[in-house]
Amino acid sequence: MKSVSGLAYRSSETPDLRTYEAVAHEYYDEWLHPTCADFRSASSIYLQRFFEELRPDGRVADIGCGRSLIANFRTLDLVLVDQSPRMLEQNASSLEKRCVDVESQSFGIAEFDWVFAVLGDPYNSMGTWNNICRALKPMGECVFIVPSSDWAKAFRRSALEERANFARFLTSTGEAIFLRSLIVESEVQKRMIADANLTHIATDHVRVGDLPVVRSTKISAFLSPDQNLLDIYRAKKG
Ligand SMILES: C[S@@+](CC[C@H](N)C(=O)[O-])C[C@H]1O[C@@H](n2cnc3c(N)ncnc32)[C@H](O)[C@@H]1O
Repeated sequence: MKSVSGLAYRSSETPDLRTYEAVAHEYYDEWLHPTCADFRSASSIYLQRFFEELRPDGRVADIGCGRSLIANFRTLDLVLVDQSPRMLEQNASSLEKRCVDVESQSFGIAEFDWVFAVLGDPYNSMGTWNNICRALKPMGECVFIVPSSDWAKAFRRSALEERANFARFLTSTGEAIFLRSLIVESEVQKRMIADANLTHIATDHVRVGDLPVVRSTKISAFLSPDQNLLDIYRAKKG
């Protein structure tokens, strides 16, 4: 482990310009990136309901945390995990942070009661799911939020400049940056969860019509209000 600006990181995670490190400074600008803003609003709507109804207790990890939404709901016993130092820096300095690539490295061993992945499509691979299983305590739970497969199918197949399994960011300098985005059909996702020795306990959704306003034409032009905007997979260890 090394330390930069008070953040612990491992030497193999030197910032790579094709990670979110490249867009971290503007990712949360809703005018530049309205699609990200809409997915974030939808995630927030889901988490608001989730925290009110289930009141998750114990030690919590927010993986791929970016500017953590989970920290809006609880900061006690919360660990923020991200591979991007610039993303981690956007959180309160008092919070515990780990700079880890969750696909290839462990972020904890039987440490967490809850693991949240909010918009986890960039790292939705078996490597990550195995590390989630490793990090959970027995009976611990994971909540994994991704843009819906309905949206991915409708949008990414429609536009010539889009690519399957990538999100295209048009940056403030006019550069198009492709970042990994792994969104799979429900049956494939459930198979991945089972292959990681976790039990799928529910799939929830947020629909387009649940948003008070849709800013992004990449969403409104492709999905109707009754279609799923987010798929949320809940899994348990044991
Ligand atoms: C789509 S953003 C979502 C950020 C945040 N959860 C939110 O809802 O605003 C994905 C985040 O995952 C992080 N990330 C991508 N691949 C990762 C990996 N392999 N390990 C850890 N973090 C990763 C990125 O740096 C970025 O902060």
